[in-house]
Amino acid sequence: MEQSSLQKYEKPGIHTAIIMDGNGRWATRRGLPRTAGHRAGADAVRRTVEAAPELGITTLSLFAFSADNWQRPPHEVSELMKLLRTYLSRETRNCVTNGIRLSVIGRRDRLARSLRMGIETAEALTARCDRLHLRIAVDYSAREAILAAAAGVSPHSAPTREEFARLLGAANHEREPSPEVDLLIRTSGEQRLSDFLLWECAYAELVFTKTLWPDFGRSDLEAAISEFRSRDRRFGRIEEAVAG
Ligand code: FPP
Repeated sequence: MEQSSLQKYEKPGIHTAIIMDGNGRWATRRGLPRTAGHRAGADAVRRTVEAAPELGITTLSLFAFSADNWQRPPHEVSELMKLLRTYLSRETRNCVTNGIRLSVIGRRDRLARSLRMGIETAEALTARCDRLHLRIAVDYSAREAILAAAAGVSPHSAPTREEFARLLGAANHEREPSPEVDLLIRTSGEQRLSDFLLWECAYAELVFTKTLWPDFGRSDLEAAISEFRSRDRRFGRIEEAVAG
């Protein structure tokens, strides 16, 4: 199918979601503690955020900590929380300079007060930035978000998909409907969704790469975007219907 026939169905920018996997294996292979893998993973986040807008990405959703990750050893959980706090406090100024709006999706009631405050500050300071929307998922579970959104559905009429996306956005502390994902990338060779953005990924293109997250960089992101652009996205229609 020609690219031009798809364009009217594509938003101007790409929403890419990434399941950042493989930090532990990266560290173990080097004889390092798993937490060293997470620290290297935070550097990969910086590289990826820097490259994203130049590759046509306007929204980038990163899975940093799942609701199930609380079950990891306490010192690993606390290192991940520390990395998130440090990222927010060090990167907020860079985000403002580079036009990056930062928001955090997921539950907040189980986070430490200092992290909650860091999130609120970063969100407020970057609220008007519009070059890239960086969404970091923390204490996030797609099924929990869907259940929370469902609790807001009127008992009198079924919601439209747009209305439900709005309820989902509110459940995630977002000010707009939860955006559809165009491209979902998972690193480290695993091929699962792991409860990430299940509603929003209904028509996402899935790209799995063997690269471990701490090794991920611009060339890996470029390769994934190039794979995405080569895919034939019909959204359930046949070619003639998409061409209109
Ligand atoms: C999965 O790898 C990765 C995580 C659970 C944490 C992701 C966190 C970061 C990349 C750093 C902090 C994030 C930000 C936004 C600053 P794993 O530990 O499950 O790896 P394994 O499967 O090899 O054990």
